[in-house]
Amino acid sequence: MPAGVRLLFNEPVVLVGRGVRVLAPSGRRVERGPARVSGAEVTVGVDAAGDGTYRVIWRVIAQDTHPSQGAFAFSVGRTGAPPGSAASTGAPGVGPITGLILQAFARALHLVGYALSFGALAFRKMVLEPLALTGEETERRVWRLAGAGVVALLAAEPLALLAQTVSLSAGSGQPLDPEVLGGALDSSFGRVLAQRLGAALLLWVLVGAASARPARAAAAALVLGLALAFVDGEAAHAVGTRPSWLGLGLNTLHEAAMGAWVGGLVGLLSVWRVPTIAVRRVEIAVRTGRLAARSAVVLAATGAGMAVQHLRGPADLVATAYGETLAAKLILFLAALWLAWGAAQAAIDRRPRAWIREAAVLLTVLVLAGLLASLPPPV
Ligand code: HEM
Repeated sequence: MPAGVRLLFNEPVVLVGRGVRVLAPSGRRVERGPARVSGAEVTVGVDAAGDGTYRVIWRVIAQDTHPSQGAFAFSVGRTGAPPGSAASTGAPGVGPITGLILQAFARALHLVGYALSFGALAFRKMVLEPLALTGEETERRVWRLAGAGVVALLAAEPLALLAQTVSLSAGSGQPLDPEVLGGALDSSFGRVLAQRLGAALLLWVLVGAASARPARAAAAALVLGLALAFVDGEAAHAVGTRPSWLGLGLNTLHEAAMGAWVGGLVGLLSVWRVPTIAVRRVEIAVRTGRLAARSAVVLAATGAGMAVQHLRGPADLVATAYGETLAAKLILFLAALWLAWGAAQAAIDRRPRAWIREAAVLLTVLVLAGLLASLPPPV
C-alpha cells in the first residue's frame, strides 16, 4: 500500500493551489496534507487503504511561467476504471487548445504593444532626432503610437491571466477555477504579470510627461523598454536555459530589435504625410532602412542562438510543433526582408504600399512568436 506519491519534473516547478489531488476508486479525495515541492520534485502523502485504481491529478507552473497539468492512475490490489471525470484524464501538457490559443494571443498583443510604444520611440530617437525632425506634429503622432502601445500592453495582461487560468483549470470541472486563479497570481507568472503592468503604467506616466519634456521622456522610456524586454525573458523559455544569463541576454536583444524594426516601420508610416517630413522623405527612408537592416541582423543572430538552445537539431524543424512554428517564422522573416528590399528599390512615392505589406508580414511573425514562446521546446 503506497504511503505517498512522488512526481518528478525536468525543471523546478511551483504548485498551483493544492497542486496535487489524489482520488480514491470511490472518487473521494485521499491526499494527506498539502503537497511539498523541492526543486523539480513534488511529493504528497496518500491514504490509499482500499483496493482499486486511484487517479492523481496535478497542475504546476514552471520556472518560465508556463502552465502544465496532467493526470495518471495507479492501482492497489486490483485494477478498475480510474475515478473522476473524463476531462481529468488528459495527457500531461500545456492544457486545452483554447488555453494555448489565448496564451499565444496574449503574448502577441503584448509584443504588438511593445513595438508600438518602445519601437516608435526608438524611431524617434534614432531617425527623427538626428535629422532634427521632432516638430510638434511628428511628436504628436509618435507619442500617440506610444499611447496605443500602452493600451495594448495593459490589455494583454488580463488576457494572459485568463489564458493561464483556462490552461490550468482543465480537469478541475470548472473552466475558471478560483483556486487556480489565486495560485497563478502567487507564482512566477504573477510576479512577471505585476512587473509588466508596472512597466506599462510607468510608460503611461512618461507619455503624459512627453508634452513638457519629450526628449527626456523618450530616453527614460527606452531604458524602460530594455528592462521590459529582460522581464519578458523571465516568462519565456530563455529563463530555463543554461547559462540563463545567455538565454536572457539573447531574448532581450531579440525583442528589442523586433521593437526597433516593427516600431520603426509603423512610426515611419505614421509621420510620412506630415508636411515638414515630406521634403526630407529620402533621408528619413534611408535612416529607417538602416535601423531595420541592423535590427534584422540582430534578430537573425540572436534568433539563431536561441534556436540552437531550444532545438536538438535541424530535424526538429519538421518533427515538432515548436520546430514547425519556428520554420514558418523563418520563412516569413525572409519574406519581410524581400519586401523591405523591394521597397528600397521602388520610387519614393510608392514605398508606403510596400511598407504596409512588410508590416503585415511582421505582424504575422509576432503572432507566430507568441505561439512559439507558448509551445514546449524540444530542449
Ligand atoms: C532568423 C530569424 C529568426 C530566428 C531564428 C528566430 C528565433 C526565435 C526563437 C528560437 C525564439 C525563442 C522562443 C522561445 O522562447 O522559445 C524567438 C522568439 C521571438 N522572436 Fe524570433 N526569430 C527570428 C526572427 C524574428 C523576427 C523577424 C521577429 C519579429 C520582427 C522575431 C520576433 C520574436 C519575438 C517577439 C520573440 C518572443 C520573445 C519573448 O516572448 O520573450 N523573431 N525567436
